[in-house]
Amino acid sequence: MRVLVTGAAGYIGSITARALLDAGHEVVVLDTLEKGHRWAVDPRATLVMGDVGDRQVVGAALGGVDAVMHLAGYIEVAESQADPDRYFDNNVTRPLVMLGEMRAAGVGAIVFSSTAAVYGEPMSVPIVEDSATVPVNAYGESKLAFEGELDRAGAEWGLRAVRLRYFNVAGALPDGSLGEAHDPETHIIPRVLGAIAAGERRFEVYGNDYPTDDGTCVRDYIHVCDLARAHVLALEHLHAGGQASVCNLGNGRGYSNLEVVRACARASGTEIEVVFGPRRAGDPAVLVASAARAASLLGWEPSRGDLAIMVSDAWRWCQSRVP
Ligand SMILES: NC(=O)c1ccc[n+]([C@@H]2O[C@H](COP(=O)([O-])OP(=O)(O)OC[C@H]3O[C@@H](n4cnc5c(N)ncnc54)[C@H](O)[C@@H]3O)[C@@H](O)[C@H]2O)c1
Repeated sequence: MRVLVTGAAGYIGSITARALLDAGHEVVVLDTLEKGHRWAVDPRATLVMGDVGDRQVVGAALGGVDAVMHLAGYIEVAESQADPDRYFDNNVTRPLVMLGEMRAAGVGAIVFSSTAAVYGEPMSVPIVEDSATVPVNAYGESKLAFEGELDRAGAEWGLRAVRLRYFNVAGALPDGSLGEAHDPETHIIPRVLGAIAAGERRFEVYGNDYPTDDGTCVRDYIHVCDLARAHVLALEHLHAGGQASVCNLGNGRGYSNLEVVRACARASGTEIEVVFGPRRAGDPAVLVASAARAASLLGWEPSRGDLAIMVSDAWRWCQSRVP
């Protein structure tokens, strides 16, 4: 298949594009490079530098395409709170232009990067897809709004969408050739490993008074390679005529912030002291996925779901970037 992958100069998109290419698909990358990197785009892919909201660029990029994987977007929760309009513009309004072009071009299948942030503070864990969606920040609201647009397009003109709600994505390609390179970096694993690589020996964890075993927040981490594989399976599901759906992607197991910092210390062979700061606003105590639907619908099983594997892959990537 020929697949248009938006945001494939970014962390998850670049590794997903690599998985698609390795599976024998043709890939067209559409990315502004505002947050992504040219070096992350696989040379086997065709890079179109442009915005998902640019009708002409998108129309041309869709030539001969069978399906779209839409990963482009802004991803920082705090920034979304400070400037919600910018998030709605980039995560909803601009991709709507792309949907219009897909309709015009007769491209009726899309895999969308959604997020656990659509659930907000969960009523119960593990979280199933039918749980209430009550986002607590503008980032989650923007992702949920675009999910709604996909539903609307499904009803209006038959678009089939698989919405993948990722939990916390982590890790890197096991050979250390591609990984996370956000600026600023807000994710805990690359932040701890980056601090260690920079010679720091203290790390601040937000809050130790949550109702969890060690008092720190618990999150469900999914290896980026397992996530990339889920995208390929979702594409194959749509290609085989499968119906629109929504699937959580996590491992169904939570790790606390303290466990994550300790795993980073072990992977890097370095002692690091944890200091506790105040809670961060809008951080639920526990977010753990039920990924049963991804298993039954897509036949997805994680293979690198152990925290130690995710952290050691991320450490290999982190070290490969040290000048
Ligand atoms: N990283 C996570 O833990 C996580 C968790 C849940 C969901 N997600 C979702 O996964 C997707 C990818 O996340 P990531 O961590 O790889 O982010 P990233 O910032 O590394 O990649 C996003 C890419 O999209 C591009 N982009 C942004 N707006 C664009 C636009 N209007 N047109 C074209 N390109 C544009 C950026 O230049 C960047 O290369 C995002 O949609 C994000 O919301 C990520």
